[in-house]
Amino acid sequence: MIDIHTHILHAVDDGSDALEESVAILQSAESVGVTDIICTPHYLSQEEFNKKLVLKRFNELKEEIKKKNININLHLGTEIAVYGRVDKLLEDKDLTSLAGSKYLLIEFPMAIDVDYVLDTVYEIKVRGFIPVIAHPERCECFKRDYSLITKAIKEGALIQCNIDSLLGGNGTTAKRIIRSLLKERKVDFLVTDIHSITNNRYERLPKAMKKVEKLVGKEYMNELFEHNARKILLNENIEE
Ligand SMILES: [Fe+2]
Repeated sequence: MIDIHTHILHAVDDGSDALEESVAILQSAESVGVTDIICTPHYLSQEEFNKKLVLKRFNELKEEIKKKNININLHLGTEIAVYGRVDKLLEDKDLTSLAGSKYLLIEFPMAIDVDYVLDTVYEIKVRGFIPVIAHPERCECFKRDYSLITKAIKEGALIQCNIDSLLGGNGTTAKRIIRSLLKERKVDFLVTDIHSITNNRYERLPKAMKKVEKLVGKEYMNELFEHNARKILLNENIEE
């Protein structure tokens, strides 16, 4: 599996608190067959985001997993909270795309309107990036209007959902939405969005994979956990 959305860099956001915790998370990931992880600390605003610190943590973690012989390739990205003026946001040189590719992981805050979602997707596309919408099944605007997800896809967005939503960890509405999206083959990536070892989502990964396979079959399951994410790492196009 390739996990494109994680908060495993220590002491940079609400994810891992310490290097030891990050290592424990990675050991757990390795034990369930994860080969590549993109570290995606929250980017909440230009003022708040500390790229220098993020790079320092990233290098510290890479060093540590080499010492501990953990066989996982680490890549860097950010989970970008989009609100306000997107054009201004996209000018920030510290914004990090997923593994340096043309794919940007974006998260919509809870209360925003339909036009804003579609405008954001458009603004990102015209700058040559491809927006990957993080866990729409958890966002208020998509919960209120399911058809908005389809509209965003038509505008050029890709869809990333969290495994916990399928397992019921994010409530009944999120579970209903992710099941519908999967059946309609509208999801491009499934991820853990892991934040801590105490809520160890890698322990639940095998169960989630089985559930997905039962729901949509092995071929699509492999696309969701592996093949599409590999295309991000290679910066290749993902077929619709
Ligand atoms: Fe996240």
